[in-house]
Amino acid sequence: MPKITYVSVTGAERTVDVPVGTSVMRGAVINDVDGIVAQCGGNMQCATCHVYVDETSLDRLADRLPGEDEMLDFTVCARRPTSRLSCRLEVTEAMDGLIVHTPEYQN
Ligand code: FES
Repeated sequence: MPKITYVSVTGAERTVDVPVGTSVMRGAVINDVDGIVAQCGGNMQCATCHVYVDETSLDRLADRLPGEDEMLDFTVCARRPTSRLSCRLEVTEAMDGLIVHTPEYQN
C-alpha cells in the first residue's frame, strides 16, 4: 500500500498507508491528519483539501483534471505552481513516497 507523508506548516510529518484507488484527501481524513479539511467531501466545491506537492514528488502525479485549475484560481489565496486539490489526486502505486505540505490557513 502506498505511503504518503503529510507535512504541516510547523514541519511536523505524518506518514500513513493510503489504499490505491482512494484519494490523497481521503488518506488524510481517515487517518486524522490535520490540515486537510475537505468540507465538501471530495466534490470539488470547497478547495479546503488544498496541498502543496513537494518538489521531489511532482513526477509521481498525473496532470490536473478538468476544473481543478479553475477551482484553485478562484478559491485558493496562496496558490503556488505545486498547488493541487488532494481530493483530485487518486492514489496509485506510483505515488508511494509522495510528500505533500498542508497550507498554513488550513491548520
Ligand atoms: Fe472539497 Fe477537495 S474536498 S474540493
